[in-house]
Amino acid sequence: MRRKLVVGNWKMNGSLATNASLLAGIAEGLGENSAYCAVCAPAPYLAQCQALLSGSEIGWGAQDVSAHAAGAYTGEVSASMLADVGCGYVIVGHSERRAYHGESSELVANKTVAALEAGLTPIVCVGETLAEREAGQTSAVVAGQLQAVLDAIGERMSDIVIAYEPVWAIGTGKTATPAMAQEVHQQLRAQLAGQNKEAAEAVQILYGGSMKPDNAAELMAQPDIDGGLIGGAALKASDFLAIIAAGSAPDQ
Ligand code: PGA
Repeated sequence: MRRKLVVGNWKMNGSLATNASLLAGIAEGLGENSAYCAVCAPAPYLAQCQALLSGSEIGWGAQDVSAHAAGAYTGEVSASMLADVGCGYVIVGHSERRAYHGESSELVANKTVAALEAGLTPIVCVGETLAEREAGQTSAVVAGQLQAVLDAIGERMSDIVIAYEPVWAIGTGKTATPAMAQEVHQQLRAQLAGQNKEAAEAVQILYGGSMKPDNAAELMAQPDIDGGLIGGAALKASDFLAIIAAGSAPDQ
């Protein structure tokens, strides 16, 4: 049984003061049987996460990483730097990076490799736009995004986390129905199994896109939905905790 993982994607939100109270609120509410949880903070606050979260049950990580190892790449942050400050996770290929920063699937694959080489767990995001869904291209789009990563990482499939985030559901309040999400998650797992059946069973596939306390349990009850990547609802401790609780079912 895959233990659920609930990851907060803070995006470009927060301050030293609000992060500290959010993290304290989350820490206070976690129980012994809670699902795994982590937060992905803006780069300037990773040192704060290191200071506040080292040794705690809350994992943390970054929202992006350079595909390059080091050198003349102004503004970029390398995977080894993220590992150096203690990050466990890094989100790669979020749809906002693909859409606003022109990230191709090839670049996302290279970032995934860089993260793995530094010992980080990449959270690889895939998802279709509304136009692609309406054109019946969902399967082809997400399969293509995932395959680019699988081709690049070879044997290391079991070291990644995947997040299926339909672009039309992100920050919109529109969630994929549990059945719609499960259909895509099942397809992604079958694609993984095509390469390595055993590893495919272990890979956590998260759902993201307007996951909230009131829909989290139903989504995470689907056989191939192993947790959530949470944007808006991760900024309020009580909401984030309620989603973690929804993933902390007694059967785990
Ligand atoms: P949302 O964002 O929960 O605010 O829809 C999810 C994400 O973009 O990771």
